Amino acid sequence: MKKPDLAKRKKVMGRSIRLGHCVCDPSKPCPCPMFQHHNVCLCAGEHLPVKGPVDVKLTRHVRSAGCASKIGQEDLHAVLSKLPKVTDKRLVIGLATADDAGVFEIRPGTLLVQTVDVFTPGVDDPYTFGRIAACNALSDVYAMGGGPVTALSIIGFPIHTLPHSAMTAILRGGMDVLGEAGAVLVGGHSINDDEVKFGLAVTGLVTRSALTTNAAAKPGDVLILTKPLGTGIIALAGQLGRASARAQKAAAESMATLNRRAAELMVRHRVKAATDVTGFGLLGHLTRMMLESKATAEIAFDALPLLPDTLDYATAGMYSGANERNASFSEKHTRFASNMTEAEQAVLYDAQTSGGLLMSVPPLRAGALLKALHAEGIPHAAIIGRVTLPSSRAVKVERSAENVFGNISAC
Ligand code: CO
Ligand code: CO
Repeated sequence: MKKPDLAKRKKVMGRSIRLGHCVCDPSKPCPCPMFQHHNVCLCAGEHLPVKGPVDVKLTRHVRSAGCASKIGQEDLHAVLSKLPKVTDKRLVIGLATADDAGVFEIRPGTLLVQTVDVFTPGVDDPYTFGRIAACNALSDVYAMGGGPVTALSIIGFPIHTLPHSAMTAILRGGMDVLGEAGAVLVGGHSINDDEVKFGLAVTGLVTRSALTTNAAAKPGDVLILTKPLGTGIIALAGQLGRASARAQKAAAESMATLNRRAAELMVRHRVKAATDVTGFGLLGHLTRMMLESKATAEIAFDALPLLPDTLDYATAGMYSGANERNASFSEKHTRFASNMTEAEQAVLYDAQTSGGLLMSVPPLRAGALLKALHAEGIPHAAIIGRVTLPSSRAVKVERSAENVFGNISAC
């Protein structure tokens, strides 16, 4: 360890001792427990020796992983509903419809798409976490049919206890994904935080004709989901040390994949209604889409693409507390077929990190779009249900696709 600068230490600690509180963390006395046990004064800029390269396991440094760290829809609504309404003629999509991103017309015909997403790691590897967080943040621009242009990074990192190399790796992961998206990192903000967090504020562009919203699903449409479900369940199983390498690898690969190609194909096939599946789970995002579109969705559980082992882990009770939060919003809008198990319902509530796009597609174009998605390297894309006229519930879940589509082929 470097020799402490005793003059500096004396100066800072003198102030702390006079005040009776540590000046860096007033909840602690001076000398603080760190000083007493390790002879290190953080206020004087001293560090515990951080040995590098160290194999940092990021999920050990968070409470709830990934999008499960989100505030639930009910709490969020209670808070946001107390705020004044934003009315500006240039605001095309604001908070009111709970869409994926805000859309603002800066000049006639030029729409800005803006979104911010920050969350805690659901994987241990810092570089992979950086990639996933960036894919997740960019996804909200893709869900609006837009293309990202610039991004600002936001990072919380325990700079005194984890090696700097881990923070570098997180940021590099984010930058690599921005490169793949054709977007540019223009700046950022960092916080010395007990819990690791990372994300991006992204600005994109979209034209009026390409704009996709969560309020434009039409009865008769077919629902397509582009990525398999189960990232939250696998992350929790991983934190408990019970996830298979196969499941963790598949989840990490899926989360670290951009929705760029899927969005481009969606726009080319003139889809008007889309969202992405993230922290509120498939049911939460689908419910929101149906409420905003004033329609009902019928989905089939056996048509859903799932990550490996997801249903096994759910059956063993390995789903996070975020499920209860998601259920408290979606449950009252959903009718489950009576033969659905609790584990199957848990998959539908599971908070997804960097999940797929959920598109509502006119039936005549659904087959061609699905084919194009498969051909362009999005193999898990699947038709999961259809949109009907509004009924008493926003979403109906059947066990089998036959009950949703009858004998007619979906395409
Ligand atoms: Co979203
Ligand atoms: Co978001």
